[in-house]
Amino acid sequence: MSRLAARACSPGPQYYPNMGTLAPVPRIFGREAEIQALGQALDRVASGGPAIVLVEGEAGIGKTRLLAQVLEDARGRSMQLAAGRAEELERTRPFGLLTATFGCARSSPDPRRAAIAGLLAVSDAGDQGPITVTSDPGLRFRAVDAFTDLAEELALAGPLVIGLDDLQWADPASVLTLGVLSRRIAGLPVGLIGCMRPSPRAAELDRLVGALEAAGARHLAVHPLSGEAVTGLVAQAVAAEPGPRLLAEVSGAAGNPLFVTELLAALAQEGAIATVGGRAEVTETMLPPTLRLTILRRSPPCRRCGPPPSWVPGSRSATSPRSPAAPPSICLWC
Ligand SMILES: Nc1ncnc2c1ncn2[C@@H]1O[C@H](COP(=O)(O)OP(=O)(O)OP(=O)(O)O)[C@@H](O)[C@H]1O
Ligand SMILES: [Mg+2]
Repeated sequence: MSRLAARACSPGPQYYPNMGTLAPVPRIFGREAEIQALGQALDRVASGGPAIVLVEGEAGIGKTRLLAQVLEDARGRSMQLAAGRAEELERTRPFGLLTATFGCARSSPDPRRAAIAGLLAVSDAGDQGPITVTSDPGLRFRAVDAFTDLAEELALAGPLVIGLDDLQWADPASVLTLGVLSRRIAGLPVGLIGCMRPSPRAAELDRLVGALEAAGARHLAVHPLSGEAVTGLVAQAVAAEPGPRLLAEVSGAAGNPLFVTELLAALAQEGAIATVGGRAEVTETMLPPTLRLTILRRSPPCRRCGPPPSWVPGSRSATSPRSPAAPPSICLWC
């Protein structure tokens, strides 16, 4: 139960003061088709073949949530899992994504993983300076082969699902390796599920998408939630039937579940949601939804990820229309 929901259990008018960011609601709303498509990919892997799915959608739309769900399903089917997420600040770390995904550390009890970690460490310091996978193409391709060999060996032992989040920030060496891997997994029980925002899209990621398509990748576009799904999400977050004014407020989130929950959190932080007789509603002191949205939409484009996908709140913590915060220099996803 979310913290907000927990507060909604007592009878009488129930206000939600001083709320921070809401905990995620336990249920996934409105993603039946996507979950079915990902389940079909797991079916293909279970029956011995490869399945590649590219999950794409704007920030906050629910890609990570879907990936977590499919990985959980794969775990439930006793498949091997390798999951990692590209870090925006580590885009230049060679093989950073795959190192994290396969857990390659020098201390690893698996000699294959420890060997990969050794390969990625500086190998020599001769007259020309240290040789690294960045400076030495030969070494780089040994690392590419080592990662693909590892994935292949794991898959020969049983179905393997590789989940890669935030591919838009993947380092070029991992991107290159994934392209090679996509050609190596034909005939093997490997699920490759990658999530990414539509932008930023580096040229090498574009090439990877092309390689994955050539290997039979399926695209799964994650769209805004339907009105019905948003109502369900709000109802679960506030543990009450949402009233029309509350639904009007969240309609500005345009079906983006992160925006919906952040907006609810902002309203709750203002003490602006009250539950009376089992119905949650915004209080009379609120500004009209249109004015709130106008203020929130005035946020300037983020200096890191560019203009907002569809709607950008002012910041994670200060969306109060009564005391608008100074314009953020980065958006709430950064
Ligand atoms: N269908 C859904 N039902 C309920 N909650 C959801 C749903 N989809 C996403 N959420 C919640 O919305 C928030 C944002 O989702 P998520 O982190 O998956 O977005 P994302 O697409 O991965 O964003 P980003 O591009 O920033 O990584 C999370 O708190 C998540 O739990
Ligand atoms: Mg995500």
